[in-house]
Amino acid sequence: MNILLVGSGAREHAIARAIKKSKHENNLFCFASSNNPGIKPLCTGYEVGKISDPQAVLNFAQTNKIDWAFIGPEAPLEAGVVDVLKEVGIPSVGPTKKLAQLETSKSFTRDLLTEYNIPACPIFKYFESMKGVRDFMEHLKGNYVVKADGLMGGKGVKVSGDHLASIDDGEKWCQELIDAGKTFLIEQKLIGQEFSLMSFCDGEHLVHMPAVQDHKRAFVGDLGPNTGGMGTYSDADHSLPFLKPYDIEDAKNINEATAKAIKSKFGEGYKGILYGGFMATATDVKLIEYNARFGDPETMNVLPILESDFIELCQSIIDGNLSPEKAIFSKLATVCKYAVPNGYPDEPIKNQTIDMSAVTDQDHLYLASVDQTENGLIETGSRTAAFVGIAPTIAEAEKIAEAEIQKITGPLFHREDIGTSDLINKRINIMKELRNI
Ligand code: AMP
Ligand code: GLY
Repeated sequence: MNILLVGSGAREHAIARAIKKSKHENNLFCFASSNNPGIKPLCTGYEVGKISDPQAVLNFAQTNKIDWAFIGPEAPLEAGVVDVLKEVGIPSVGPTKKLAQLETSKSFTRDLLTEYNIPACPIFKYFESMKGVRDFMEHLKGNYVVKADGLMGGKGVKVSGDHLASIDDGEKWCQELIDAGKTFLIEQKLIGQEFSLMSFCDGEHLVHMPAVQDHKRAFVGDLGPNTGGMGTYSDADHSLPFLKPYDIEDAKNINEATAKAIKSKFGEGYKGILYGGFMATATDVKLIEYNARFGDPETMNVLPILESDFIELCQSIIDGNLSPEKAIFSKLATVCKYAVPNGYPDEPIKNQTIDMSAVTDQDHLYLASVDQTENGLIETGSRTAAFVGIAPTIAEAEKIAEAEIQKITGPLFHREDIGTSDLINKRINIMKELRNI
């Protein structure tokens, strides 16, 4: 079996390992955006190219007689890589361009949920001009979020009280978007705790993964600029310490209703990973956004505790016969921490030598933005490497992750607080206060 993996970050390192762990013999071919010395040794073929160029991916797939593909990041989904492969009979785990709009277009998602009466949206309205912008921000009492439509590389969302200090600031930002030819949504700012609930989806059936909480801010104490995600944790019961069982049920129901709405509206099922970014609020669970792919770092929490065979799971997504026993997860807690270059995310230093050889458990170390040179391993500017600790409790998993990530030497930093009881108790108390418990 020849399998294509598109993408080359730590998420794809985790996917590649899950594929190679399968009992089914396979040749893995990676079409990568950069050299990843963690993924490369797992592959029969490895090519660096433009992963969002469907023709380039197709050429690589045909040359290597690929049977099916797994698409890691969002850019190739948006570019229609799945559609082009499908045309020549190569199926993918990953949605077509049209359905990937769940991630790539904020209005697509909000409109779909509204049309199908899925009660998960904050109050929202979208704008193509400045007409009504101020009125709507005032209606939301200044608690608003502005979301530019289309992929903006993580810079498309600005939150009042966070990035925008006032309604005047919000208006200025909206004017900038209009001047740049962009449309945008304004929505109610949700207050609560964020969590990720990812589901495998074969077009009809969903199987849910353990819930995970990511940490977007760069520095200890949730301070500093937003990042791609500095680290994540999940709990042995597959919920999170600040959630109630009904929160998890709500999130699962929203993913299920969304997949059903997609099928009914487009006549085409969503095949791939449906990743809901949720907010548990005072009253219920709301959807912040969908991603049409695995989360990074969330993948490093869930795939290492997947007991089922990953290739069989992917094939059941492709064949449309996904069922709960295809995706069984161990009842273990995980804590994943990313080491990133000094200066990340705004002015990361680049091309400095780092050393990961002291990490004891190399199997739970995932490489991201690094390269192998004559002078050794270097960090190349984005998130460098992640380590996931796995244990019966979050506290034990945190100790393992912290001890291991500290062994990476070089001009790097990580968040010591992710997964610690101090930070988790803070989250629990925020939810208790919000809900008057
Ligand atoms: P997104 O690009 O949609 O993932 O949004 C980035 C971040 O903005 C999210 O992870 C949230 O922290 C925040 N955010 C987005 N929408 C809202 C909302 N309605 N209320 C509060 N925070 C939000
Ligand atoms: N964990 C954030 C993301 O994958 O987008």
